[in-house]
Amino acid sequence: MLSLRARIAKRLGWGCVEFGAKVKGNVKLGRRVYIASGTELVASGNEQIRIDNDCFILEGSMLQPYGGNISIGKRVGINLNCVIYGMGGVTIGDNVMMATSCVLVSANHNFERTDIPMNLQGITCKSIKIGNDVWLGARTVVLAGVEIGEGSVIGAGSVVSSNIPPYSVAVGVPARVIKQRGNYKMPSDRSVTNDNESSFK
Ligand SMILES: CC(C)(COP(=O)(O)OP(=O)(O)OC[C@H]1O[C@@H](n2cnc3c(N)ncnc32)[C@H](O)[C@@H]1OP(=O)(O)O)[C@@H](O)C(=O)NCCC(=O)NCCS
Repeated sequence: MLSLRARIAKRLGWGCVEFGAKVKGNVKLGRRVYIASGTELVASGNEQIRIDNDCFILEGSMLQPYGGNISIGKRVGINLNCVIYGMGGVTIGDNVMMATSCVLVSANHNFERTDIPMNLQGITCKSIKIGNDVWLGARTVVLAGVEIGEGSVIGAGSVVSSNIPPYSVAVGVPARVIKQRGNYKMPSDRSVTNDNESSFK
């Protein structure tokens, strides 16, 4: 639920970072971005979090670069309790919808050796790329190195462990394509704001 100041900000065409949101370090927010209370966006050192215009991030969500970068396009909705770990780099396109409790993790623990614990073996980082106009259903998990093509739908509870071609509907563990969305074309009047306006100052 929006606070009074968020509602006023919305009326004025401004963004709002609610009290109780932890937004720290190298975090660049575009215009009209709404960050709910109880979220965490923390980037230190060389890390960066970039969120373009007209996005919202709801309660309980955490964006943590862990040495990498997280870049989010325009009009992206990140629902309640989503987690994005950016070690290998995470890039999310425009108009992406993430339902509640999605998890994007761009690294794996190494576990080849058995003579030392896994927590001493380091990690392998691989980027995650989510194309424009993708819908991730509730509790979708996206693993390191995966690209989800533009216009795709991922079913609730799926684990995406390999690339998904554009305009696919994919479901399950691991996610498999069950159908294509056809010759979809993005309508030209889709945008709610001027796409050419500069996002960051
Ligand atoms: C992926 C989804 C959009 C597919 O919808 P659809 O095109 O109507 O697909 P259908 O319901 O016809 O299902 C097709 C097949 O996929 C299976 N399937 C559908 N969704 C699935 C899922 N999430 N996981 C596993 N299998 C799934 C169906 O059981 C069906 O299998 P069958 O052919 O063996 O009977 C929908 O099932 C879904 O998961 N929606 C996400 C809902 C959500 O998270 N909402 C949050 C609010 S933003």
